[in-house]
Amino acid sequence: MANSTSVRTVVVPAAGMGTRFLPATKTVPKELLPVVDTPGIEMIAEEAAGAGATRLAIVTSPNKDEVMRHFDEFPELVEILRARGKDELATKVERAAQIIQPVAVVQDKPLGLGHAVGLAESVLDDSEEFFAVMLPDDVIEPTAAMSEMIRVRQEHGGSVLLAVEVDPAHVSNYGVFDIETTEEDAVKKVVGMVEKPAAEDAPSNLVATGRYLLDRSIFDALRRIEPGKGGELQLTDAIDLLISEGHPVHVVVHDGIRHDLGNPAGFIPASVEFGLRHPKYGPALFRDIEEILEKYRPQLG
Ligand code: UTP
Repeated sequence: MANSTSVRTVVVPAAGMGTRFLPATKTVPKELLPVVDTPGIEMIAEEAAGAGATRLAIVTSPNKDEVMRHFDEFPELVEILRARGKDELATKVERAAQIIQPVAVVQDKPLGLGHAVGLAESVLDDSEEFFAVMLPDDVIEPTAAMSEMIRVRQEHGGSVLLAVEVDPAHVSNYGVFDIETTEEDAVKKVVGMVEKPAAEDAPSNLVATGRYLLDRSIFDALRRIEPGKGGELQLTDAIDLLISEGHPVHVVVHDGIRHDLGNPAGFIPASVEFGLRHPKYGPALFRDIEEILEKYRPQLG
């Protein structure tokens, strides 16, 4: 129902090829690369559970079984760790299986984010009129953004996306929103969306980041769009189709941390930030980074 107060299913598209992380992703799915010690897929599961969801529909490709395996229980490993007195580690190992109910959705070929989201229709209950999509590549904090997006849907109906402001020179890497203001500063009405425009053609510097609260009508829109760039079905195109048909779409402008784990240029700063804040590693890492900075200052500073 449009006025439901929580989201039940979070869809996590994780069937991409991760080419920007080759050669690591020949054998290790990028969703399992650790930020300090925890993979992105587990961080997203925590965020989904925190938003009140009970089901995590993980879209994986046939050769990425390890992503689902991360949510298994590992009783032998836990037993060994406990026997050795490593209770803290045992608790960490057990955590993933306790967060949320994971459900696998297999995408046989990487036919795009839109195609991946469309496949998740089969796992939704008939009564679910909306659901969330969270991209494990995008780390955001505070993670309460989804609760805010649910509130905006209650008020305006339709679909709600998360936006971040970027330097206008960098918009061409993103899906960019054409917006109108609303009574709330941090909420904008979306009148159109353009995928990766040239900087001079961009309607704003507000870009999509990987959190979507989507009305169920997105599935119908996904069936009606044509493949775009690279033969892929773009989620952006389906959202843009809904907007053109009068479906309300709003964005919440994110005010906080955002890292893109999908490529080394974003993954490294995320590791530094999470490492610095880690009680065990932070203090030493801070000193190491200071030393490294001094070494490279003549070249890069
Ligand atoms: P990306 O394009 O950022 O991921 O897709 P990718 O394709 O893995 O990355 P590169 O360009 O090859 O390095 C955004 C999200 O959509 C998922 C990805 O797993 C990622 O979470 N995705 C993308 C799918 O699930 N299926 C697809 O066909 C494409």
